[in-house]
Parts: sequence; structure tokens; C-alpha cells
Amino acid sequence: MSEKAQIGVTGLAVMGRNLARNFARHGHTVALHNRSYGRTKELVEEFGHEGKFIPSESAADFVASLERPRRVVIMVKAGGPTDAVIDEFAPLLEPGDMLIDAGNAHYLDTRRREAALKEKGLHFVGAGVSGGEEGALHGPSIMPGGPKESYDALGPLLEDISAKVDGEPCCVHVGPDGAGHFVKMVHNGIEYADMQLIAEAYDLLRQVGGHQPAEIAEIFKGWNEGRLGSYLIEITAEVLKQVDASSGKPFVDVVQDQAEQKGTGRWTVQAALDLGVPVSGIAESVFARALSGGADVRKAAADAGLPGPSPSAGAHGGDLQADVEQALFASKIVAYAQGFQQIQAASKEYDWEIDPGAMAKIWRAGCIIRAKFLDYIKQAYDKQPTLSTLLVDDYFLDAVSGAQDAWRRVVATAAQQGIPAPGFASALAYYDGLRAKRLPAALIQGQRDFFGAHTYRRVDKEGSFHTLWATDDRTEVEA
Ligand code: 6PG
Repeated sequence: MSEKAQIGVTGLAVMGRNLARNFARHGHTVALHNRSYGRTKELVEEFGHEGKFIPSESAADFVASLERPRRVVIMVKAGGPTDAVIDEFAPLLEPGDMLIDAGNAHYLDTRRREAALKEKGLHFVGAGVSGGEEGALHGPSIMPGGPKESYDALGPLLEDISAKVDGEPCCVHVGPDGAGHFVKMVHNGIEYADMQLIAEAYDLLRQVGGHQPAEIAEIFKGWNEGRLGSYLIEITAEVLKQVDASSGKPFVDVVQDQAEQKGTGRWTVQAALDLGVPVSGIAESVFARALSGGADVRKAAADAGLPGPSPSAGAHGGDLQADVEQALFASKIVAYAQGFQQIQAASKEYDWEIDPGAMAKIWRAGCIIRAKFLDYIKQAYDKQPTLSTLLVDDYFLDAVSGAQDAWRRVVATAAQQGIPAPGFASALAYYDGLRAKRLPAALIQGQRDFFGAHTYRRVDKEGSFHTLWATDDRTEVEA
């Protein structure tokens, strides 16, 4: 075979196909492989004119069609199918070759795979790719992990096909082994939180504001021009203005109100629990989806007629629209602050040395959570790379200070009107928890010491102490 391919893609369902096309459109020769050859043929027939493709029916021919070091992008379902593809390709590859898993893999799987392949001299790169089908084709945000040296040979190609902001690629080497997939996972966790907050804003505008979906679409369109400007706000306006063709009703009224999930939000929360990072905004959004999907429990509650207020339009004391915008922005800041804190905690735990500012930078375009305010997050970490929380950066501090009264009014209205707003409420509770001079955690320490002699530390001297609760005089002893 004369010409060799710079990169290969195996797994040609829509994401893999679009990534392959994107590489080809950027002038790279792309080797193609799929479990069933039909898909490979289809791609070449439909899009062969877009660039240079080398289709192969067998894994061996596919590998042989690649220049060295080989770069093989795997785009199959996360979990077992990824392991199966690795098992198929690893024996065909040679030291220095790269396997790039571009799916939404769990970062612990990525760590395991990277360690196993390293023993064979192969580079395994877990790369987070965000932006859906369109992003894969026109420029996604790419979060590659894996060994640094693999980035030298791989990075330029990924940067080529990634989204750009002022010519700068939305792709950077995130860190070793599972760092890329970890960051992509947190990206999705933040995505869940953002979507939940937007949904709560809509619900309040509808139930308390008395607005119809088409009017709320206009409100979101307006917000998209301001500091909330983001892909998710933009598509929310589109979804809200959609009218169902068969019934003539707003689209949002004919869709079942049960949010589904593929699991990356849940993984984010599970990982956060292990790291001890309070990602309450992400957790609330995962639980809110679970609650919405719990049809049996919701039916039982409806049948029992759980009492509570019925929302009434106009019940908010203040400018609802302006207040909800403030609550949304402040809560969103909290969710991002929590997500970034989780990335920093994992980076420390696994020695990944992730640059949080670089993550904000590569999320500015291409990905689902792309938003104007990521520029400010980037600036905050550029100024202070070890920032403990985004909330103390000047820009965000100003924003949450300014949102104070409105945020509290919105949470109070939601509670009084019986409208669930777990995202807004938990974000505010987190904020108040952070700024509290004294938390009731001291009482919890007392309870723990009482029933389990778990000891406590004092505010006025060093050491650990235990009170002999069972004795009459309840003396304190040093533990
Ligand atoms: C992205 C998206 C993508 C996917 C979500 C959907 O960054 O391009 O996050 O990865 O659409 O995982 O997640 P759920 O099905 O769990 O909502």
C-alpha cells in the first residue's frame, strides 16, 4: 500500500463517522474500520469526496494502513465494547502506537486500561470529546489524557479538528492516565447542573410569572445576549418555542416529564463522594432527574394527594424575571465552582497536575457547556492558579454579592408556592454554608463523641478530646 493514513477511526456510528470526516476535512488521510463493513462502505460512498479515506474490512488491514506511530481512535460504546476493541487491536499494534478512547468512559476504567497497555509499550489515551454529533463534525472540545509524550504525536491532529476561539484550539493535554476522562465526566456533571437550573428558571417563569413557553423562549433569547450567554440557554429558547405539529401544543407540554440519563452525572457525584468534595448542585440535578423518572413513587404521591400550595401567578414580591436571572447566574457560578473544585481535588489525589484555567479555556467552544462566563473562569485561574474556590475571585464575588437579595427572594417564592427548585435552593445553602462563621457541625461532633467516643477538636487549644458522657461529672479527657 502506498499512502498511509495519519489517523484511524474504528467504530463508525454517528460520532465516529463525524470525527473521521472532521479529520479528513482537515487534510488528514483517515483509515476506517467498523465491526460490520457496511458502515465503512457507506461512509466512503456518502462522504468520500470530503477527503482521503482508507477503508479496511479487517482489523489487521486497518492497522497496516496506518503510518507509525499508529493513532487509532476508538469510538464505541463505553464499557465492555471498549475492552473488546482494545483486546482486538492491542496484539496488532507495536510499541509507541496509540489507542485513543474518545467515548464517555469511566476514568477508573481508563486508568486500568492505560496501566495494562503501558506494559505492552502502547500508549492509551482516554480523550473526552464534547459537542455531540455536530461538534464531532465541525469542532468539538477535546480533553485528552494519557501519557504526555503521546500528546506530541497526537495533539496537533486533535487540535486541528477541535473548536477554536480566536484561533486557539479547544484541546489541551489535560494530564496523565484518566485525567481527560475525569474532566469530561465533570463537564457532564456541570452540564446536568446547568440544565436543571435552567429548567427551574423556566418553571418559575411559567408557574409564578404566568408566561407561556413561547414568551419564556423570548426571555431566554434575551438572556443569551447577556452574561448568561451560552449554548444551553440558546437551545433552551429553541426548545421552548417549538410547537408540536400533531397537537398544536407547545412541544414542552407534550413531552413526558421524566428526564433520563446515561450515567456520567451520577459518576461525577459518586467520584465527588469519594473525594469528599461537596458538589451539591450536580448531585441535586442527578437526584432531580431520578425523582422525575420515579413514576411509581410520583403516582403514589399524587394518589395520596400530598398537600401543599398551588402556585399562583404573580405571587413573587419583586421583578420575577430579573430576580430569576440573578438566581440562575449565582446558582450557575456555584455549580461551576463545585465542579472545578472537584477537578482540583482529583488532580491532587492522582497527581495529574491539571491546570484548571486550561480546562475553562478549552470549554469556551465546541462543548455543551460552552458559555461566555468561562472566559472569566479562565481569567480567575490565570490570576490565581491555586484558587480554592471560584466564589472568592473578584468577578464571581461581585456577581454573587449582587445577586444576594434576588436569589433569596426566588428561593423563598419557590418554597412558598410549592415549586421544587432544588438547584437554586441547594446552591444558596452551599453559599451560605461557605460564608457561615460557625456551622452546626460542632453539634454533630458532640453527638459523634457522645455515642461513639469519636473525639473532637477545640477552638481554644490543640489536640483531640473526648468527654466521658457516661460519668456523672462528664469530665473531658485528652484523646
Ligand atoms: C457532550 C455530552 C454528551 C452526551 C451526554 C448526555 O459533552 O457532548 O455531554 O457526552 O450527550 O452524555 O448525557 P445524558 O444522556 O446522561 O443526559
